[in-house]
Amino acid sequence: MTIFPRGALFMAPMVDLSHVAYRQLIRSFGGCDLFYSEMLNSRIVPGEKPGTSIYLRWARTDDLIFQILGSDPEKMEQAASKLGGYRPRGIDVNMGCWLHKVMEHGWGAALMKDMNRSREVLSAVRRAVPDRLVSVKIRIGHGPDMQYLLDFASMIQESGADFLVLHARTVSDGMSRKAKWEYIAAVKDRVSIPVVGNGDVVRADDALSMVRQTGCDGVMIGRQAVIEPWIFRDIKSLASGAGLPERPDLEAVIMSLLDLLRLHFPPDVALKRFKTAVAWLGRNLTFGHHLAKEAGRAQDLSQAAQVISGNFEKGIY
Ligand SMILES: Cc1cc2nc3c(=O)[nH]c(=O)nc-3n(C[C@H](O)[C@H](O)[C@H](O)COP(=O)(O)O)c2cc1C
Repeated sequence: MTIFPRGALFMAPMVDLSHVAYRQLIRSFGGCDLFYSEMLNSRIVPGEKPGTSIYLRWARTDDLIFQILGSDPEKMEQAASKLGGYRPRGIDVNMGCWLHKVMEHGWGAALMKDMNRSREVLSAVRRAVPDRLVSVKIRIGHGPDMQYLLDFASMIQESGADFLVLHARTVSDGMSRKAKWEYIAAVKDRVSIPVVGNGDVVRADDALSMVRQTGCDGVMIGRQAVIEPWIFRDIKSLASGAGLPERPDLEAVIMSLLDLLRLHFPPDVALKRFKTAVAWLGRNLTFGHHLAKEAGRAQDLSQAAQVISGNFEKGIY
């Protein structure tokens, strides 16, 4: 079975950002090959219902991978099994989140310290969804220990995962140190399952460079995909030999996200998520932080819309 085409493009899991409205916005520019949901806590998933949960919302699931978080094999199996029932493309296990509030429970990147527990978690998830893809998103590790990473990657393959995603930073690198793409190349050499590279794709041609330099099978983009929801379109255009398409009108992009949020979420959640998004979309503008600050004071979505159109009318960006 072909899991995904070579050079496939992935939207990363990001809390408060990888939701149905952003996915629909990205799809309006042609989309990407696979979308990841934001991380879903395996303790919470069993009590969530589509329609009332703000996390279980989608327009379609055939290009969606739900990411789950946890370290108890039984709970992870239950969460995977329940989410698998919604017929997503797959389930991903988060082994890369470096936040203290996550790792202190033994979740996320903390799992990378415990090879046996990680194996149990992956086997449990594999059992739960035999007919869905299973992926694992990891970091390099807690430090830059290449041998450990390669052994960990082999363990992932042996546990039956279909592919892995490597965010090419260590836990101590956090989010800002330069991604170390040479680790993606090394993991690709070690395992036979597909490897998706992640980290520091900020321009469309970075994605092509990552594939060229590391031999990776796919590229995952996080922050730049919420700053430029049209980046996947641009990458595909470059890959096909055409140039970069024209940049879309940013005000129209922001307004269309607002409409999508209004459509898919209750007003308070939509407003909160809109404010989060404007901080990222605003990075396309010299004074985007002012826009985010003003939108941040809006009491409801109509006010937020006025702030956006008022500022673009003034044309000061
Ligand atoms: C706001 C934010 C939220 C994130 N939430 C998650 C998450 O829920 N699960 C996860 O595996 N990684 C999460 N990440 C990490 C991203 O998926 C990605 O690995 C990281 O941003 C590096 O990719 P980039 O350089 O393309 O942004 C998050 C990152 C950001 C900036």
